[in-house]
Amino acid sequence: MQDLINKIYEDTYFIDIVSDIIKNKTVLQMKNYRQHYETTCFDHCLVASYYCYKYCKKHNLDYISCARAAMLHDLFLYDWRKRINGRKGLHAFTHPKTAYENANKLFILNDKEKDIILKHMWPINIFEMPKYRESFVLTIIDKRCAISEAIYQMRKQYSQKRAFRFLYIFLSFLILKI
Ligand SMILES: [Fe+2]
Ligand SMILES: [Fe+2]
Repeated sequence: MQDLINKIYEDTYFIDIVSDIIKNKTVLQMKNYRQHYETTCFDHCLVASYYCYKYCKKHNLDYISCARAAMLHDLFLYDWRKRINGRKGLHAFTHPKTAYENANKLFILNDKEKDIILKHMWPINIFEMPKYRESFVLTIIDKRCAISEAIYQMRKQYSQKRAFRFLYIFLSFLILKI
């Protein structure tokens, strides 16, 4: 994961597109919240934004709007694992609007960027059908990122378990020798 983040920061053309967003104090608060497993909201948005940029550029779509909106798409700024106002489980349906409202206070968003943020949970949020092709791009890339983050965590846990198993065998040999 860190290798990918480093690679993203090395792509200066991409970084220029989102530089004002990633330097913004409110946006940086996303580093304090976990999105999927160990990945922070900030890193999740950065990776999603980068893949949106790559895909849209390759397919002659509006890569600037897509990258900028993707960087803001999860700017909800709370721990979604905890109850909000006594209710839990609505996060999937409500956070696009929260992220949009937060983003709209900080940046001037064009119509496409608004749609990309507000509709990114489609088709889970079945009534929020994306209007632009770039909005569909984020709906797919967002889910792909969530899956990659889950796989990364599973691999990490598996290698940790394996390391513990080797350590256990090694210590057992030491004890037996004594
Ligand atoms: Fe989201
Ligand atoms: Fe997301």
